[in-house]
Amino acid sequence: MRKIALILSSICLAISAQAKDYAISTPNSSLIITAKEGKPLYFRYYGSRAEIKDIYSAGRMLKYNAYPAFGTNCNMPYASLVKQHNGDNAVKFVVEKVEQNENNGLSKLTVSLRDVAHPSLLVKVNYSAYSDCDIIKMNTEYINEGKKPVVLQKYMSSVLPIQSDNCVLLQLEGCHGNECNERVAPLTEGVHTISTQCGSRPALYQNASFMLGLDGRIDETNCPVVAGTLLWMGNFHFEFHNTHIAGAPTLFMGGINPAASDYTLASKKSLTTPEMVFTYTNNGKGEATRTLHRWARKHQLIDGTKEREILLNSWEGVHFDISETSMTDMCRDIAKLGGELFVVDDGWFGPKYPRNNGKTSLGDWGVSPQKLPNGIQPLIDLAHSNGIKFGIWIEPEMVNSKSELYEKHPDWVLRHPDFEPTYGRGGTQLLLDLTNPKVQDFVFGVVDDLLTKYPDIYYLKWDNNMCMQNAYSQYLPTELQSNLSVDFTLALEKILKRIRAKYPKVVIQLCSSGGGRLNYGYMPYFQEMWTSDQTDAFHRIYIQWGALNFYPANMLGAHVGSAFSKYTQRFIPIKFRFDVASMCRLGMEMVPAKLNDGEREYAKRAFAEYKTIRPLVQQGDLYRLVSPHEGTKNYASLMYVNEAKDKAVLFAYRLFTWRRANHIIIRAQGLKENAMYRIREVAPEYANKPAKINGKVISGRVLMQEGIVLPELLATQNSTEPLSDVRGVNDYRSIVLELTEVK
Ligand code: GLA
Repeated sequence: MRKIALILSSICLAISAQAKDYAISTPNSSLIITAKEGKPLYFRYYGSRAEIKDIYSAGRMLKYNAYPAFGTNCNMPYASLVKQHNGDNAVKFVVEKVEQNENNGLSKLTVSLRDVAHPSLLVKVNYSAYSDCDIIKMNTEYINEGKKPVVLQKYMSSVLPIQSDNCVLLQLEGCHGNECNERVAPLTEGVHTISTQCGSRPALYQNASFMLGLDGRIDETNCPVVAGTLLWMGNFHFEFHNTHIAGAPTLFMGGINPAASDYTLASKKSLTTPEMVFTYTNNGKGEATRTLHRWARKHQLIDGTKEREILLNSWEGVHFDISETSMTDMCRDIAKLGGELFVVDDGWFGPKYPRNNGKTSLGDWGVSPQKLPNGIQPLIDLAHSNGIKFGIWIEPEMVNSKSELYEKHPDWVLRHPDFEPTYGRGGTQLLLDLTNPKVQDFVFGVVDDLLTKYPDIYYLKWDNNMCMQNAYSQYLPTELQSNLSVDFTLALEKILKRIRAKYPKVVIQLCSSGGGRLNYGYMPYFQEMWTSDQTDAFHRIYIQWGALNFYPANMLGAHVGSAFSKYTQRFIPIKFRFDVASMCRLGMEMVPAKLNDGEREYAKRAFAEYKTIRPLVQQGDLYRLVSPHEGTKNYASLMYVNEAKDKAVLFAYRLFTWRRANHIIIRAQGLKENAMYRIREVAPEYANKPAKINGKVISGRVLMQEGIVLPELLATQNSTEPLSDVRGVNDYRSIVLELTEVK
């Protein structure tokens, strides 16, 4: 299912009765296990790259059951719980064989574990390591070789014992409009869990990613860190055990959330669990982030090394008020500003019931003749004649009860037949039952029909605005209802694979009321994800800061909205809004015609300037310099550096005015000490009034060790300036600097 296509040059190592250590390594990390036929598999080490004998000599070898099951040592945390057809749920897994393969830069260890009491139950535990980056992956495969079904009640992907009893955990939590809050706290004694049960939106409240600082702290540059993320589009579950009984100082387990997900595995069937990706570094969480970003861009994210276009999305500007006039104006205006793509968001469809609000039409993916009497082709043509590309919004997994689709197929939705379903948005929205193959064809067909009819659609925004509130499939038999959340996720994956097989190039943005689906599992199918509906640039700094811990900037959509944010009732000036959105994939989400002349001139300049720093933002290495969560908490700063370290871009934000904090020193990172860098202010507020530092040449050593002070961040705004759409505000000052090596 989720196997990497390898042409395996398989060296099958039949293991002898002697216990044997097996190591797999990345350039800077190693993982070691010990296997002996007929005995449990032991996890020994995960840390910086080392020889097995050195790890022994240093006393760093752990001895912890690498895949503990319920039934043999029940006072220990267990990763596996399986109920046999006769109700027996005690399992003792012992090693049957170990296979070790090396292919295409990936070395892989597969250990087959067989249950002593029920030998027809086989679990393969997979470990793999990349040769080009410090990433290790783990997952499992459950195989039922028996004649009767078995029920998997807990089936974790990974078990990672960590040699530290003094960990600090970084996790992301939040909600709509407030996704990805970074939370850092000591892992106190006991069991800490992070999990979600939204069914279709794994990242709405918690994120399936974490970092652990192992020496009682987690800093950017100088402490051991383990970071992990689960590649799964469904409910996930992480456990962190910091208990005396765990047998290892700290134990991590991660995988599919087993809650209400007993999985019936039929005879001769298998279930491959999602991959958990880990990185280890001694160089702080900055390095962990950079490794995850590089791996994502190179190995997981579709078109990960390609740059993304500047777009205008119609949603925040006009909401459901889609008309030929409003769309024509927006399309022309974004082209004039230097944008590259225009996206028509929600509100364009519904041949029978026009989509005027959230109450109707989902499921009916024909153009609404009331709203766009000439269809969408003229808009596509208009975009092209203005030299830009065209995109459109869909929410193909959903239906409103007021729709032709629901009238025809009431049995296609998730709902219990015996009671009224819980409706979502608009009081009428329901989630389609993706486990039903006819529904799978329908969802594929939504994309296929659009792209067949309009082959010039360049970009789709795929939204998902409802959790699995009705956890009952009208398609699955009663006895398989608890397979629903896993089978729904696998069905979505199947549909996405089918779409990508036919349409490998179309750019698809994933959205789920903002960042409700921010997960690595979607990356092979979606070039980018909408980070949040939050339009307040001040608030977004925190959201983007949190998301960037794990997700690379080129996949995080960030749009300049209007000065007033409906979410926070706050006004923010245009330069700050641009500078915040420019730290990720820049776009705009407002009616450009509402900009005044000064703002329009600024927007044009800022878009043009973004194109010059785009390769750095979208492909560079991220260094976090000043956290908005730390210190006086009124500054934030980060930078991106290219691989050659001869170009960088630095973003600095003053978040709010605080008289005493007026000597903020920003120390760069990631540059060459001995190189000289010329500084250029990117998109200054006034074209002819760049910052004092503009044009200066400063050594990498001074930039990194002494740091820079930027007086412009302290200056108050001149309330009479024409550019300011928000007057008399001293907060929200920002500056962007490009650093170029003078050779
Ligand atoms: C969600 C998305 C928005 C927009 C609306 C349209 O809330 O997050 O960006 O697409 O749906 O209904």
